[in-house]
Amino acid sequence: MAKDDTDKQFATKAVHSGTQQIEGAVNTPIFQSSTYKLTEERYAGWAAGAQHTLLYARLSSVNSDAAIQKICAMEEAEDGLLFASGMAAISTTLLGLLSRGDHIVAAPDVYGGTYGLMTEELPRFGIDVTFADMTEPASYEAAITPSTKILYIETLSNPVLKIANIPAFAEIAKRHNLLLIIDNTFATPWATQPIKMGCDLVIHSTTKYLGGHSDIVGGAVVGNAELISSLFLKKVHFGGSPDPHACYLLERGMRTLHARMPIHAANALSISQRLANHPKIDSINHPMRDGDSQYDLAQNIMPNGTGMLAFTVKGGDAAALKFLSSLQMVFEATSLGGVESLVECPFNTSHMFVPEEVRIEAGIHPGFVRMSIGIEDVEDLWTDISQALDSL
Ligand SMILES: Cc1ncc(COP(=O)(O)O)c(C=O)c1O
Repeated sequence: MAKDDTDKQFATKAVHSGTQQIEGAVNTPIFQSSTYKLTEERYAGWAAGAQHTLLYARLSSVNSDAAIQKICAMEEAEDGLLFASGMAAISTTLLGLLSRGDHIVAAPDVYGGTYGLMTEELPRFGIDVTFADMTEPASYEAAITPSTKILYIETLSNPVLKIANIPAFAEIAKRHNLLLIIDNTFATPWATQPIKMGCDLVIHSTTKYLGGHSDIVGGAVVGNAELISSLFLKKVHFGGSPDPHACYLLERGMRTLHARMPIHAANALSISQRLANHPKIDSINHPMRDGDSQYDLAQNIMPNGTGMLAFTVKGGDAAALKFLSSLQMVFEATSLGGVESLVECPFNTSHMFVPEEVRIEAGIHPGFVRMSIGIEDVEDLWTDISQALDSL
């Protein structure tokens, strides 16, 4: 983190931290260069481990430095690394920290790609995974074995939006001397700063709210400086590094994170409250809505809320698909966190390859719809959503 930013408020960090004024430019210029001229200073930086020296864009670039400093400032993290996608960040972190014979505890309702990595790739390298319940920290503790190295959680699980009681997980991780790693994509540091609650590493798909405009794919890992330093070499070896132009767009997007998120959150809350009275709705997943079973926990962990909303329509998946195709303004598309509202059914998109019984167990019942509520006018959103529900 830029040293002089620690006393600044979140909004100021979002606007200013990391942004590099070069030749008087107000924004960090795009340094579209794969390599940097070697100087005496850079040779010395290379010899010292290369992590904080501009040498070659797979290692770092002016634009990746700027963007990661901003994320570190917002997450109050010591250091961090940027990746070419959220999955590059997750796979590099897990494969970088775990070895044959190690064990990790996670939940079956993590992001579908993360689930695939944990069930299909990690076991090929002799790394065992046990799935437990993210709403029950005790179930994670019960799954710990002498080989366990990592507890892996998501602030708000995807797509059923269960909130993790982060301090309770941190207490268990500390007592058993384990790393606690969290995917904070759905919450963003505007809503939750997991490091302050005891997490060792925080992961983001920067594709989502941090970028905020559905125009990049990227990922980040931030946290403890020693861990980040050990992961730097893994990133160099695995090679999932971001392009400078994507880093530039990410940095630009993050400068308005604090301005966008309150609108996402207020719109999602308002839509969830209106859905609660709609006859075609079976159930709603939005823990920030008063009456949700996780409301009190949500007030502790992410009181500011977020734009993610899920619900189950009456009539199963056929009705859900009809709802999607009846929407006129909201795009039927996978992904989330952009200024425009998006909608999907996890059963045929993000969680298609998760076995049906695992989906049901996780709470993804027939008729389940996930929405990423954008920052459009809420009345226009409701007009579109209610006419699509009325068509069922
Ligand atoms: C919570 C979460 N984590 C990680 C990812 C993976 O990110 P990416 O698509 O940038 O690889 C996603 C993608 O949807 C996600 O929703």
